[in-house]
Amino acid sequence: MKVTVVGAGAVGATVANVIATKNFASEVVLVDIKEGVSEGKAMDIMQSSQLLNFDTKVTGVTNDYKATAGSQVVVVTSGMPRKPGMSREDLIGVNAKIVKSVVDQALEFSPDAIFVIISNPMDTMTYLTLKDTKLPRGRVIGQGGMLDSSRFRYFLSKALQDAGYDATPTDIDALVIGGHSDKTMVPLASLATYKSIPVKNLLSKEALDDAVAKTKVGGATLTKLLGTSAWMAPGAAAAEMVQAIALDSHKLIPSCVYLDGEYGEKDLCIGVPCLLGAKGVEKIVELDLDADEKAKFEESVQAARNTNSKLGEALK
Ligand code: 2OP
Repeated sequence: MKVTVVGAGAVGATVANVIATKNFASEVVLVDIKEGVSEGKAMDIMQSSQLLNFDTKVTGVTNDYKATAGSQVVVVTSGMPRKPGMSREDLIGVNAKIVKSVVDQALEFSPDAIFVIISNPMDTMTYLTLKDTKLPRGRVIGQGGMLDSSRFRYFLSKALQDAGYDATPTDIDALVIGGHSDKTMVPLASLATYKSIPVKNLLSKEALDDAVAKTKVGGATLTKLLGTSAWMAPGAAAAEMVQAIALDSHKLIPSCVYLDGEYGEKDLCIGVPCLLGAKGVEKIVELDLDADEKAKFEESVQAARNTNSKLGEALK
């Protein structure tokens, strides 16, 4: 399978690198508008090929979409990352035009591609891509829930360690739904387990609430520490989605998708559990949320609708 990654910044290069090291794709093309950056990052990745034992061919091009032709998946990371103190929503003015432009160009050369959107504000950029391309909804997927769920696992493992358990993130199963937003993402604490045991039975309410709160601002915390937004976990999360599509695995991955009645919502893209396979989103899994989770999800939906309503202005 051929994969295009648009944007060779830290996130884009990490997506390409993780895809290459997982060795499931035949080819990854990195594209960026900055002369030489894609070429350089691709060459750097390829110089680790023998060391890391992968055969994926990674190439880089400067703004040349011809080289991306026939891609089965296009990952869009273009645009500005957050600076400390900024919300993801603050980026809409700059990123909407960029995302629209790269999606249009990539689609021209890869008309059958599935799009994975990472650029922020991600839920709104996914909605923009869907409306702009008019592709079937299964082929436009946002990456946020996979990352937020992975962060939730990390913070739960830390809380369990503090409570005396030898827990690692891989021991934890946990899910975050809703928008990829500091204030309104919805970590589903009631469903989280540690080796099949509900974590709510093992942690105090304070410790559980603290893990939820840290998960919600997980991206902002890293932006403050790094001076720009994170890339390791975002890149790995996107690569996980691309792998599920490439291998037609029907893996359950929380993803941002257009809802058309599921969860009682219509006409927006937001994070819910999905099965990802060769056609993109193969199935949306509907959870039976309790009253509190339902209210939080509804709040997240309203916040995403509010950001979507700013798209017209942002695209002027
Ligand atoms: C994050 O949460 C980049 O939005 C991404 O780190």
